[in-house]
Amino acid sequence: MMNIQRLMIIGGGQMGSGIAQVVAAAGMNVILNDIDPACSLKGLGAIRNNLIRDVEKKRKSQAEMDAILARISLSSDLEDGRNVDMVIEAIVENMLIKSELFKKLDLICPQHAILASNTSSLAITEIASFTKRPDQVIGMHFMNPVPVMKLIEIIRGLRTSDETYLLVENLAKRMDKVPIEVNDFPGFVSNRILLTMINEAVFCLYEGVAARESIDEVMKLGMNHPMGPLALADFIGLDTCLAIMEVLHEGLGDSKYRPCPLLRKYVAAGWLGKKSGRGFYNYK
Ligand code: CAA
Ligand code: NAD
Repeated sequence: MMNIQRLMIIGGGQMGSGIAQVVAAAGMNVILNDIDPACSLKGLGAIRNNLIRDVEKKRKSQAEMDAILARISLSSDLEDGRNVDMVIEAIVENMLIKSELFKKLDLICPQHAILASNTSSLAITEIASFTKRPDQVIGMHFMNPVPVMKLIEIIRGLRTSDETYLLVENLAKRMDKVPIEVNDFPGFVSNRILLTMINEAVFCLYEGVAARESIDEVMKLGMNHPMGPLALADFIGLDTCLAIMEVLHEGLGDSKYRPCPLLRKYVAAGWLGKKSGRGFYNYK
C-alpha cells in the first residue's frame, strides 16, 4: 500500500488550516494552498496559536511545535501539487468552483495521487467525474474545529476503489481520528441530520417562537449540546449552512429541507457568522 507522506491542502480557511495542522502533527509534510495568500497566512497564524496553547498546557514540547510548523509550507500556486501523494480540498462549498479545481488537479498531480474533498454535502461521485481517476477520488469530511473533533466521515463515491478507501481510512487513524464510512448521498449522515436541526432553529427564530439566546439555551441545557444551534451555525459559517441546505433540498427533493428565508437574508447581507464578525450573534 502507498505510504502517504506529502499532502497538499487547498483552501486555507478554518477547515483547511485545521486539516493542515493535524496532518503535520501526524508527521507528514503539508503544503497549505489558497488562492489568496492572506488567507493561508491567516490559517498558519491560527495553527501557530493552537500549538502555542498545546505547549502552554504541556500537551506538546516546544521542539514538537517547531517540528510541526517546519513541516508546513504555504503556497498560492496549484503547480506546487505536482509532487504530492494526496490532495485534500477545503475551498468554498460550490460544485462549479470545486469542479474547476478538480479538473486542474487531475492534470497537475502525479498519477498515483488521491484527490479527496472535505465537502460538507456535495456528491463525491460528481466531483470524481471531473477527473480521469474517479477510483482515486473520495470524501474526507472533517469536523470543525478539526484539531478537537474525533470524527472523519469518509464518503465513498460510486467509483471509489477499495484501495483508495483503505488508504484514507488508515490516514485518518494516523491523525488519531475515528473514520466512519458512509455512502454518497446529499449531506451524507452528519449534515443531513445536523443542518436540518440548525435550519429548524432558524425557523424558530424567524417565526418568533423564542429569542435567539433562548433557542440556544434550550438545546444546551435541555439536550446537553455543547453549543446552541444558532451559535453553531455562526461557527460553521452561514454561507456554508445555506449551501448545504440547498444541496439537501435539491438533492433529496423534500420541502422539509427548504432553507429558512431568514438564513438566505443573512447570507445576502454578508452576515456569514463568526468569520465575518456578525451572524445570529455579534462578534466585533
Ligand atoms: N481550534 C482548536 N482548538 C479549539 C478551538 C479551535 N477553533 N476551539 C476550541 N478549541 C479547544 C480549546 O483549546 C479547548 O482545549 P483546552 O482547554 O484543552 O486547551 C477545548 O477545545 C475546549 O474549548 P473551550 O473550553 O474553549 O470551549 P468548549 O468546552 O465549549 O469547547 C468546542 C469548544 C469544542 C468548539 C465545543 O463548543 C463543541 O464541541 N462545539 C460543537 C462543535 C461541533 O458541533 N462541531 C461540528 C460542526 S459541523 C461540522 O463540522 C460539519 C460541517 O460540514 C458543517
Ligand atoms: P472558509 O470560507 O473558512 O475558507 C475557504 C477558503 O478557500 C478561503 O480561504 C478561500 O480563499 C479559499 N478558496 C476559495 N476558492 C479557492 C480556490 N479555487 N483555490 C484555493 N483556495 C480557494 O470555508 P471553510 O469553513 O473552511 O469550508 C471549506 C470547505 O469545508 C467547504 O466545502 C465546507 O463545506 C467544508 N466544511 C466546512 C465545515 C465548517 O464547519 N465550516 C465543516 C466541515 C466541512
